[in-house]
Amino acid sequence: MKAELTQKFSEKYTHEATASYFTPGRVNLIGEHIDYNGGLVMPCAVTLGTWLLIAPNNDKMLRFNSLNFEEEVAMELNKQYTKTGSEWYNYPLGVFNELLKDHEISTGLDMLFFGNIPIGSGLSSSASIEVIMAYALNDYFNLGLERIQIPLLAQKVENEFIGVNCGIMDQFAVAFGEANKAIVLNCDTLKYKIVDCELGDYNLAIINTNKPRKLAESKYNERVAECKKALADLNKEIKLNNLCELNYEKFTLHKHLIEDETVLKRATHVIKENDRVNLAAKALNDGGLEDFGRLMYASHQSLKDLYEVTGLELDTVVDFCRDYDHVIGARMTGAGFGGCAIALLKKGKEEEFAKELTDYYVERVGYPAAIYLSEIGNGASAI
Ligand code: GLA
Repeated sequence: MKAELTQKFSEKYTHEATASYFTPGRVNLIGEHIDYNGGLVMPCAVTLGTWLLIAPNNDKMLRFNSLNFEEEVAMELNKQYTKTGSEWYNYPLGVFNELLKDHEISTGLDMLFFGNIPIGSGLSSSASIEVIMAYALNDYFNLGLERIQIPLLAQKVENEFIGVNCGIMDQFAVAFGEANKAIVLNCDTLKYKIVDCELGDYNLAIINTNKPRKLAESKYNERVAECKKALADLNKEIKLNNLCELNYEKFTLHKHLIEDETVLKRATHVIKENDRVNLAAKALNDGGLEDFGRLMYASHQSLKDLYEVTGLELDTVVDFCRDYDHVIGARMTGAGFGGCAIALLKKGKEEEFAKELTDYYVERVGYPAAIYLSEIGNGASAI
């Protein structure tokens, strides 16, 4: 891949790239919609990702090029910008904008991006491009950011420049992922453990529903706002910084404070999901893969009934998996509203699974899903 991109870079810019980077996408094994509630999540990096090649230029310009998009732009370095529509380069531009508030960069940069994470699939193509930009600038210009500052900066860009009030999970996972390991991350303290993700006779299958994710960002922000409302209601009686400070038992003592039925459903999901991640971490550690699988199904059900972020496409995939003998757990992953599901699929059953799922899915949804077998890969790095 690097050789091909190096060649493309020289064709675009008529000079050579001087540094190259890779940052993956991610799946979340369990712990959904709880990162912005200070909960525990369990993501891992995948091997799909974003590549970035760079070289300095002498005219103090930022040149954004991508092999995935036609729009290429040149912008002056050291100006503050705002987001332009939904252009792809908003993500790296937002990172420049943020970094230039506190750091000096006096050299312009020619950049070439390439990504193979399907866009809108919920595998964090946006976190991947934000983190690669922050990682590359920090590395190339020796800006002195500590490792943890990279995902935090990328999250800030997503929140403030892009306008999605996401939590830290995606940016953290793509920055800190390790091959064949999952990350158990406490999103309140940012303490984390890298744990073995030993799947024995099973593989992690990723099923992309291929559903166009219209309005996903505004619906996501709506869920974040509903959780804030639940927290404010609970704070009338108890002092909490985050919903996930309560376990379900304690929550039942105070939940009468939440009057709005929808808000109560959202909070119930959050608190039960956090409890499930604790159980899942234990199951993974003890080699209890079937227990882990059951928790995945329970997580999906809660995201369907209480958090209402699944929809026909994701539910169709998970319904199929539940009745398919060689899958022991499946759930949507990421924000939902379309995007991807993951499944623990018995090794050797890949072809049969793909065929049967495709027939089932097309019959109910009208178009095919895409199925990938994923390896758990490494986080951001120079290559
Ligand atoms: C998106 C967000 C994450 C997280 C998930 C849901 O991927 O970017 O911060 O909230 O949704 O778990």
